[in-house]
Amino acid sequence: MDPRASVLTQRLADAGQSHLLQFWNELSPEEQADLTIDLQGMDFQEISGFFKNAMETSSSSKQEKMDARMGPVPREVLGSVTRDRDSLKDWELAGLDCISQSKVAALLLAGGQGTRLGVSYPKGMYDVGLPSHKTLFQIQAERILKLQQLAEQKHKIKCCIPWYIMTSGRTMESTKDFFSRHNHFGLDKNNIIFFQQGMLPAMDYNGKIILENKGKLSMAPDGNGGLYRALGNQHIMDDMERRGIEFIHVYCVDNILVKVADPAFVGFCVQKGADCGAKVVEKTNPTEAVGVVCKVDGHYQVVEYSEITLATAEKRSADGRLMFNAGNVANHFFSFSFLKDVVQKYEPKLQHHVAQKKIPFVNTQGQLIKPDKPNGIKMEKFVFDIFQFAKTFVVYEVLREDEFSPLKNADSQDAKDTPTTARHALMSLHHRWVLNAGGHFIDENGRRVPAIPSLKDGTDLPIKCEISPLVSYGGEGLEELVKGREFHPTLMIDESGVHELVKNGV
Ligand code: UD1
Repeated sequence: MDPRASVLTQRLADAGQSHLLQFWNELSPEEQADLTIDLQGMDFQEISGFFKNAMETSSSSKQEKMDARMGPVPREVLGSVTRDRDSLKDWELAGLDCISQSKVAALLLAGGQGTRLGVSYPKGMYDVGLPSHKTLFQIQAERILKLQQLAEQKHKIKCCIPWYIMTSGRTMESTKDFFSRHNHFGLDKNNIIFFQQGMLPAMDYNGKIILENKGKLSMAPDGNGGLYRALGNQHIMDDMERRGIEFIHVYCVDNILVKVADPAFVGFCVQKGADCGAKVVEKTNPTEAVGVVCKVDGHYQVVEYSEITLATAEKRSADGRLMFNAGNVANHFFSFSFLKDVVQKYEPKLQHHVAQKKIPFVNTQGQLIKPDKPNGIKMEKFVFDIFQFAKTFVVYEVLREDEFSPLKNADSQDAKDTPTTARHALMSLHHRWVLNAGGHFIDENGRRVPAIPSLKDGTDLPIKCEISPLVSYGGEGLEELVKGREFHPTLMIDESGVHELVKNGV
């Protein structure tokens, strides 16, 4: 045996993980070398500490007690695009001002594995079937480009919104490759900064690391809260500091409607003097799979849909709304100084959450088993677990139909949050933008399509309409293109003009 492996053998024995070498003699020299590298890079003591803490915190008695400790978000920290309409323009201007001074960065969490969607490539590369066939990455990139332009036009200075993209070991190469094949979607590649989050092993209920095959550990990304460790390890905070970033908009890859670096959200948080903020939509269905922003023991937190009991999820306030209705859309605001404190001081205090999973493993006879019930855990930190450390925390409520349609699952009957629902949400938003700008749609018989579709004709399919983010970030600037005009769907508006695809036989 390799002498390095014998030191390793001792370390594994001390950590109670000797089983990881049980198939050593059956491995090829290359497999032995790979396994050695993987094991040498691991801090078993730390991992076993994570396991103990995570198991303890997730025990059901503690979870039940949590329900009793939860309280809703108080009105005074809440800003709303509907209830505070008068302030909206001010917030947007304040945000654009910060953007024009290149103080705002976007940070994309794209290290997830897309397990529910069932694709083997990064979710951002998914094409939901829009007329343009743009991927989620392209849509987001173009929103950044457009927003830079809007800020530049308003303030007459050149600016940049750096885009930090967190990937994992599994998604890094394909993500970078995709961006470079697409010429970074027109963005300056020096302003797109990829970095990689950490991975953790899956463990059985006794804290033994699971082997995925004879020479390979079962590893998974350490959750989107792995962000904070990665920001420190990979010197991303230094990069932000060098660029003079003061505010960061963190968001998830899967929401097709995401307003990247949303000036109104940024402006709202800045004007409130917040160091941390969360964007929410009203949760109306108790079983919807969104976390809720709330207070636990007086501290802000998101309680995940998997961590709340049904009884608490169903609680209603006097006005009939759900008591815990601040649905987390995974869009967060951080001031640079808060984020720096989190990375330097608070990150180690964050507990891992436990997800019980069916984890394929090799048994002691070396056979690969695919369990039909959970046989172990994955440990993840969550991005919002640092809300508790904020000094001034604010919540910003937006309209679901304007801003939130996540892509989580593959298309199938009754499935929610699918490519179809995402595509429909985007087209229906763009349909409304055209109507608001004074345009109209006509059907194949030359009749105007009513703004609110009738349910009588049995179809609730949206009008096919897509507006490139390069033309409009949030519905602005469309009057000159559509006012007083009638369009046959499919309508596409992009940098080259206004196109009616069906009429032209495209
Ligand atoms: C997430 C939120 C949930 C919210 C919902 C809205 C978290 C922990 N939960 O839930 O409160 O209501 O979105 O759609 O944020 N990711 C990584 N690294 C990882 C794991 C995930 O970067 O190790 C990224 C994913 O690529 C994705 C995002 O985090 O962009 C959300 O991950 P996902 O697992 O889909 O979270 P949800 O359970 O949908």
